Amino acid sequence: MYRDRIRLNTLWGMVMSPEEAAMLIKDGMTVGMSGFTRAGDAKAIPLALAERAAAEPLRITLMTGASLGNDNDKLLTQAGALARRLPFQADPTLRAAINNGGVMFIDQHLSETVEMLRSRQLGPIDYAIVEASAITEDGGLIPTTSVGNSATFAILAEKVIVEINLAQPLELEGLHDIYIPTRRPFREPIPVVAPESRAGLPFIPIDPGKIAAIVITQKSDSAATIDPPDADTAAIAGHLIEFFQSEVRKGRLGTTLSPLQAGIGSIANAVLHGLIDSPFHDLKMYSEVLQDSTFELFDSGKLVFASGSSITLGPEAHDRVIPNIGHYKNKIVLRPQEISNHPEVIRRLGVIGINTALECDIYGNVNSTHVNGTHMMNGIGGSGDFARNAHLGIFVTKSRAKNGTLSRIVPMVSHVDHNEHDVDVIATEIGLADLRGLAPRERAQTIIRNCIHSSYRELATDYLKRASQRGGQTPHLLEEAFSWHIRARQTGSMLPEHRAG
Ligand code: COA
Repeated sequence: MYRDRIRLNTLWGMVMSPEEAAMLIKDGMTVGMSGFTRAGDAKAIPLALAERAAAEPLRITLMTGASLGNDNDKLLTQAGALARRLPFQADPTLRAAINNGGVMFIDQHLSETVEMLRSRQLGPIDYAIVEASAITEDGGLIPTTSVGNSATFAILAEKVIVEINLAQPLELEGLHDIYIPTRRPFREPIPVVAPESRAGLPFIPIDPGKIAAIVITQKSDSAATIDPPDADTAAIAGHLIEFFQSEVRKGRLGTTLSPLQAGIGSIANAVLHGLIDSPFHDLKMYSEVLQDSTFELFDSGKLVFASGSSITLGPEAHDRVIPNIGHYKNKIVLRPQEISNHPEVIRRLGVIGINTALECDIYGNVNSTHVNGTHMMNGIGGSGDFARNAHLGIFVTKSRAKNGTLSRIVPMVSHVDHNEHDVDVIATEIGLADLRGLAPRERAQTIIRNCIHSSYRELATDYLKRASQRGGQTPHLLEEAFSWHIRARQTGSMLPEHRAG
């Protein structure tokens, strides 16, 4: 039975139903589950856990790589199964439970979770639940479309439950590079010196004696929900490509650029898509999520290698790429997220990090997570890992949200994820602000001139002028700094009432 998938015959007797496996998880336990931006998540046991939690007391701390697909977070939230959740999520039902205080959410840099587990600042993990395409002859786990935190979860957990997913092709084997940093204080440098470096094993090495259950599934990853490029995202991509060209002219970048990272979402995807028609060539990615645009760049001949932690695709790209993954295998490596997002490696490689902002302020501080400074959207994800350590920390955003009633460039961000010291460039569809080497007063003038929508430019100019009269390295009118947010709450628009609509 499934001998090509479970190659260690002493494990054949461990196969059981999802319901039986879920019975191993007890109320109050900490569970580390595979899954990173909807890719490679466990697909059967979360459902069985949700069913149990609906019928009996069962509340767990759930750690994953990043967001889950298959409505896992939604179903677990609805069943009341989540006491604590980390380090990232992107589910509307869970988001609501976080924001009403029902689920305690720990919003973490994605590179940090397993480092904290390893040093026992978090955890311990009772059970790891990991999707695998196969178990090797020695009991090693071959991950599927993501690595995320699965390797360290499985290595550190007391017990491991494996979901063998028959819908994930066996050709995924060989795609992964599982390198686990040695323990501090005797840590060695991470031997990743180029996106294509391989430093570890193609499987997660665990003691097979820790495997407590094996569940067989046959279900694809959930498709990515990315809007196709539109005029605004195309304009943002255009500004960035022009900027990269000017960096090449100034001799700061070559025509192959530096390894690229692009965050989740439509804008970052559109920016990469825009590179297809650019003059750059032989590009490489050192990123976290490999989206549709990665494969479009491969197919166009522009991209020669991509390192990531997951492959998250829309439905068409999924059906084109995953069954033919063998075709791309020598051009891709999937790593644990602590390596894909490791500050040491990102700084060494000189990565160009492109991430999306919810809002930015006139000085270049960026809010990626909290609507109105209070309500969690998704989480910081890997944006901080990359922004601080990148050769270029770039943030992209449309200049306005909600039909123009909200400016995404504001006097002061209502929450800071990336402070002005980490942000080199901001681009909106209006234009691009190169903030490198500028003092706060110069940054503000540049952002207002180049990035803010014309309907808010006068308001912002007036704010900066009056604030500057009061003085300061970073001038502000504290009594007015959040007046745009407050006006939006009161009237539905950041624009003064006589200009709204
Ligand atoms: N105030 C209030 N709401 C805002 C807003 C603002 N300043 N800016 C955007 N929104 C709303 C939008 O209207 C939209 O709402 P809707 O879904 O009801 O239409 C929603 O927030 C998302 O905005 P959108 O412009 O569609 O953003 P996105 O899908 O490109 O995502 C982030 C933007 C910031 C939420 C997303 O990139 C993210 O979660 N980033 C943090 C994690 C990260 O960067 N990881 C990178 C490494 S992979």
